[in-house]
Amino acid sequence: MNTLLLHCRPGFENEACAEISDHAARVEATGYARAKPNSAYAEFVFSESDGAHRLMRGVRFSRLIFPRQWAQGQWLDLPETDRIGVLLEELKAYPVFGSVWLEVFDTNDGKELSNFCRKFEAPLRKALEKSGRLKDGGNGPRLLLTFKSGREVFLGFADAENSAMWPGGVPRLKFPRQAPSRSTLKLEEAWHHFIPRDQWDQRLAPGMTAVDLGASPGGWTWQLVNREIEVMAVDNGPMNEALLETGLVGHYRADGFAFRPKRSVDWMVCDIVEKPAKNAALLETWIGEGLCREAVVNLKLPMKQRYTEVKRLLERIADGLAERGVKANIGCKQLYHDREEVTCHLRRL
Ligand SMILES: C[S@@+](CC[C@H](N)C(=O)[O-])C[C@H]1O[C@@H](n2cnc3c(N)ncnc32)[C@H](O)[C@@H]1O
Repeated sequence: MNTLLLHCRPGFENEACAEISDHAARVEATGYARAKPNSAYAEFVFSESDGAHRLMRGVRFSRLIFPRQWAQGQWLDLPETDRIGVLLEELKAYPVFGSVWLEVFDTNDGKELSNFCRKFEAPLRKALEKSGRLKDGGNGPRLLLTFKSGREVFLGFADAENSAMWPGGVPRLKFPRQAPSRSTLKLEEAWHHFIPRDQWDQRLAPGMTAVDLGASPGGWTWQLVNREIEVMAVDNGPMNEALLETGLVGHYRADGFAFRPKRSVDWMVCDIVEKPAKNAALLETWIGEGLCREAVVNLKLPMKQRYTEVKRLLERIADGLAERGVKANIGCKQLYHDREEVTCHLRRL
């Protein structure tokens, strides 16, 4: 059980390796990271048997940028028949679980395996309960079974409070039919990731004010309006008519990098595709000058050294705010709906 499995977006395996190696060094756990290109996962193999446990205890999963899910455990070969029998035998060495998720990687093979997982889940759950390995709703860790094929599974587990919110880290969000663009889901996912659900009513409350930079056609503005937040939508491009008719949206044809609200607002969101350093500086200015209380901004990723570059930009924002004497929480995640970018969230304290 000395391997840590990390799910990630296909093509970002090296970033997951670099990031987890950084954390392993920080908690003084030794081992090595490995990954195959476009496999949508990476592994860290620890040299000590308690390495994975120590790392998971020393790192908040929600603070990781590239990994979408993690589990400590090992690979297991399964037979063609009686897979459940083999799994139960192996699980004798594991703790009693409080929940179970069947997961696949974000690849075409993974998508095909989802059907198999759906069929396999009910009989497996029944057998786990009968054998006493699963006490649903109990406070044991979450059993995470990641299938690479019908014959190969990663038998892993993680603390349910310190791992992904959704199986495989893939959110189940429904596209709102009235929203004018698909990127609407990006902002919704960011809120799920960065704001605990029980704080939404307080931090995304009706009557609040927001600035949406690069707002056209209005997918992000739609999310804000849906929570009855008043929006200044800044973009030279057109805004969706129905949104303008709500009376909650003012359209400003201006440069998002020069725009400043007359009074400070609760939220600033920015989906402008620009050099990441420019968006990072914008974020620092808005939070640093108190122009907004919270912000969600996309950072486009460079071609190479993507983890190193994101880390450098986050450090630069943190240093800039510290120089101004401003305290803020800084979060960053490659969300499921992000492609060649990551999403940053800042909250002024
Ligand atoms: C990815 S789109 C935004 C999509 C939008 N968030 C949505 O959900 O519908 C990026 C937008 O940024 C705008 N844009 C690019 N540079 C800008 C700038 N300097 N100031 C304001 N808007 C800008 C573009 O016109 C484009 O509409």
